[in-house]
Amino acid sequence: MKVKKIVFSPTGRTEEVASIIAKNLSDDITKIDLCNPKLNFKNQTIIQDDLTIIAMPSYGGRAPQVAIERLKQINGNNAKAIIVCVYGNRAYEDTLAEMEDAAKDAGFKIIAGISAVARHSIIPKYASGRPDAKDEKILAEFAKDILTKNQDKIAKIPGNRPYKKTSKIPLVPKPNEKCIKCSICAKICPVEAIDPVNFKADPKKCISCMRCIDKCPENAREVNKILVKAAALAIKKACSIRKEAELFLQE
Ligand SMILES: Cc1cc2nc3c(=O)[nH]c(=O)nc-3n(C[C@H](O)[C@H](O)[C@H](O)COP(=O)(O)O)c2cc1C
Repeated sequence: MKVKKIVFSPTGRTEEVASIIAKNLSDDITKIDLCNPKLNFKNQTIIQDDLTIIAMPSYGGRAPQVAIERLKQINGNNAKAIIVCVYGNRAYEDTLAEMEDAAKDAGFKIIAGISAVARHSIIPKYASGRPDAKDEKILAEFAKDILTKNQDKIAKIPGNRPYKKTSKIPLVPKPNEKCIKCSICAKICPVEAIDPVNFKADPKKCISCMRCIDKCPENAREVNKILVKAAALAIKKACSIRKEAELFLQE
């Protein structure tokens, strides 16, 4: 069986989780990168017999809107899909429900849902080091469970409709004095928000995904540290107890 990963992973942890699940399902794995703004998503081919893994991080308890828009352009061709939401140990609220609706719209058949925890991309002290060995073991068991279940049944996915309201996070990364103008940040931005001349991000386009900070080889991009401290304090309690991955299968 072939596995197709369809992944939005600005700082790599969602990709890591999707890869752990994928390698426990098949050794024939290909990928569609939802972070690539240059990709023509309408032209991506999904074979009906492919098992797809659709993975996104949770942003404010919702799915990233750009990832949802790109997913909806892909023709799912009635292929089976496992939807995977990765979050920073606070909560994922309606992320999986929103992914389920978009994946159905695109023509996928949802056979399972998974939530998993990974390092918080804005406040890395939360869920630091995750996914870890325990997560790997749990995710491998989930993959085994999915393979042994009747895959013609539709999964029961948690979440509310209408979805939780979100507000834009006012964290827009800026270049600092270490910037050598290599322009990697402008090239890898999933929403093309960074000016290729002055490397400032357009606050209207920026989705605060932290990819430019994560991928900068010079450590030359940063966000307002006071705002990050305030955000860390606000979610401290919710993030303090370790949460485990969950699997949602048919009713
Ligand atoms: C804009 C933004 C909003 C986030 N909101 C949440 C959230 O509501 N709950 C949570 O637990 N983690 C949240 N996180 C953390 C990410 O879901 C988590 O770190 C995820 O692993 C990032 O995926 P990536 O490494 O593939 O980019 C947020 C991260 C960002 C950048």
